[in-house]
Amino acid sequence: MSLILLLHGPNLNLLGQREPDVYGRDTLADHVARTRAVATEFGCEVEDLQSNHEGEVIEAVHAARGRCDAIIINPGAFTHSSWALHDALAAYDGIVVEVHLSNPDAREPWRRTSVVAPVATGSISGFGGVGYELAVRAVAAKLQ
Ligand code: DQA
Repeated sequence: MSLILLLHGPNLNLLGQREPDVYGRDTLADHVARTRAVATEFGCEVEDLQSNHEGEVIEAVHAARGRCDAIIINPGAFTHSSWALHDALAAYDGIVVEVHLSNPDAREPWRRTSVVAPVATGSISGFGGVGYELAVRAVAAKLQ
């Protein structure tokens, strides 16, 4: 069975309450459950972690090395600033899918830079929670 690490960065614990016009009404638990349900269809197991702390996210990426087949990550605002997360993902040997609920390219100019995109296998933005489903499908296709 393949193992996927589903990682969420800062403020995503507030999903459902936080700017629902931008991020929707589903909670983080809803997104995790949806990801896990789709992953099960493809014979994949999902481990999940959300953290507001950059170091904790980085350590989760380190711990995935040689153990998880893929990382699906919504890095939150670390997307636009964390070169440390960039380097951690560059040192990871599996598939990396960057997911955003909103489309950062259609928002404020500072959101148009992703330091994660250059070290991701691919990125999915702007489709709300469907993005996690697409990410699992993409991982399963890559693993085949
Ligand atoms: C986000 C987009 C980021 O710009 C923002 O900082 C987030 C959420 C998204 O899912 O759309 O926290 O990653």
